[in-house]
Formats: sequence, structure tokens, C-alpha cells
Amino acid sequence: MQDSDQVPEGFEKVCLLSELQPGKGSRFIVNDEEVALFNIGGKVYALDNVCPHQHSPIIYNGYEDDNFIACPAHGWRFSLETGKKPDGTRGLTTYPVMIIEGTVYCKVIPKKFNW
Ligand code: FES
Repeated sequence: MQDSDQVPEGFEKVCLLSELQPGKGSRFIVNDEEVALFNIGGKVYALDNVCPHQHSPIIYNGYEDDNFIACPAHGWRFSLETGKKPDGTRGLTTYPVMIIEGTVYCKVIPKKFNW
């Protein structure tokens, strides 16, 4: 069986799980979108890499704090699971992640702009 037989529609290959440092974030472009992957507690999370505060692509450089990721610039915090801020308001988009035979796949739907 080939990998592609197991990968659900819409998921893109991002990297090898072994490339994600435990406790750290990494930056990727998936479907033209900035994505931050975090390898935390044996689970991989995918969030929008662009902080909504100053629209900077730096979330991957943030640090984990009690299941939240804190932006490295000014400390805004976002849930690893939902992307929401601690008060429950909208924060970052999160993306589904699958790991198949040591490869990380992510489903990223490109943002649409209304010009
Ligand atoms: S740029 Fe992220 S908190 Fe300011």
C-alpha cells in the first residue's frame, strides 16, 4: 500500500515527524498559507503562523505555556487545540493534522480575500 492510499483528501505532506523538535514550533508554507507546527507532549498541532496582533509570521517562534502558545513579540496567547485566546475570543485558525508512518500531513484551506 502506498502512502497516498492512506492520506485523506485535502491533506498535504508537510514534513517528517522526526524533523519537529519536541516542545518547539516550526514554520511551513502549506497551500500558500503560513502554518506553525508545534510538537507538544507527543502531539502535533497546526496553527496559523500569522499573529493577528501585528500580522507578523512569528507564531512558530512562540513558546508553550499551559496548552497555549504565547506569541514571542508581545505575549498574546492562543489555545493549541482551538486557536482561541484565553477569554474564548477568536485568535488563530487551527488545522487538522495526521501522522502516517512518520510523516506529518496537514489540511490547510487557503484564506479567501474579498477585494
Ligand atoms: S505580534 Fe503577536 S502579540 Fe504582538
